[in-house]
Amino acid sequence: MTILVPGGAGYIGSHTVYELIDRGYDVVVADNLQTGFERAVHPSARFYKADIRDRAAMTEIFQKEKIDGVIHFAASSQVGESMTDPLKYYDNNLGGTTALLEVMVEQGVKKIVFSSTAAAYGEPERIPILESDRTEPTNCYGDTKLAMERMMSWCDRAHGLKYTALRYFNACGAHESGEIGEAHDPETHLIPVILQVPLGKRESVTVFGEDYDTRDGTCVRDYIHVTDLAKAHVLALEYLVGGGSSDVFNLGNGVGFTVNEVIKTARSVTGHAIAATSSERRAGDPAQLVASSAKAKQVLGWKPEHDSLEEIIASAWKWHSSHPKGFEEE
Ligand code: UFG
Repeated sequence: MTILVPGGAGYIGSHTVYELIDRGYDVVVADNLQTGFERAVHPSARFYKADIRDRAAMTEIFQKEKIDGVIHFAASSQVGESMTDPLKYYDNNLGGTTALLEVMVEQGVKKIVFSSTAAAYGEPERIPILESDRTEPTNCYGDTKLAMERMMSWCDRAHGLKYTALRYFNACGAHESGEIGEAHDPETHLIPVILQVPLGKRESVTVFGEDYDTRDGTCVRDYIHVTDLAKAHVLALEYLVGGGSSDVFNLGNGVGFTVNEVIKTARSVTGHAIAATSSERRAGDPAQLVASSAKAKQVLGWKPEHDSLEEIIASAWKWHSSHPKGFEEE
């Protein structure tokens, strides 16, 4: 089977491509390299530098490569930027997905696994969060991802397009091969930011808010290893190929850690006394986000294998300490 992975040069996309290739799939990656890296693309995947908004380029790829299914990661994904530049998110995320789905419908490709987010929920009604809970995004990024899910749902009704939307919680860690890992510019995510301190790239980590109603006053998040996410995408594809109906799944470990607990664990993993300071809350941060992944476990047969925070941070540390410049030339 030939699978097209738009956004396969990005963080979660590149790990999913590795997993697909390990599982014997033929893989084609399309990425505009706006935030992704060609060096993150598995050498056995065929790479096209292409933007999903370019219908002609995408049509050519579908026809030439005889695509059977799509795992879609191509989107802008920075919460902060989405609040200051919302139209970029509507253009790239909604415009891009509209074009991609149009080409899929024209070419008769009817299966898509989609990278969604916990940001689709906004402020949670309860912990752990179920897929059926209220979805009221508090940022533009989450709003575009939820709209992309809805777009696919209408395409199912109109065209029989089958989709699985995977709502990830906090993706982290790196591939065990040491070949690929997380590399964002600018980096805003907690674990890589913390690891910049022992790498000598920053003096200290800033804790955004210590007055939340949580066990130590800092925000609680559900950290899930990127390889576990990658495996879930392959299972979601196999579910669709097996005739599964369109559906939405949370992906998380179901265990929450506070920001202070993550910093403490990073100190013990790296052996560095990572300095931390505190500041005001970051706008739009819910106090707690923890997933119920019972549905993914039951329906997809998914089981996260990396559920210890030490192991997750150790895998991120292995990548960052051996690639301090990410995918740039050393
Ligand atoms: N944090 C700090 N200091 C930092 C960076 C983060 O204290 O320098 C805190 C944040 O306030 C938050 C936690 O660490 O409480 C995790 O923050 P991240 O930025 O790593 O991740 P988020 O939980 O904000 O965002 C993640 C994904 C988004 C997704 C969102 C869903 O990165 O793509 O979950 O709510 F939209």
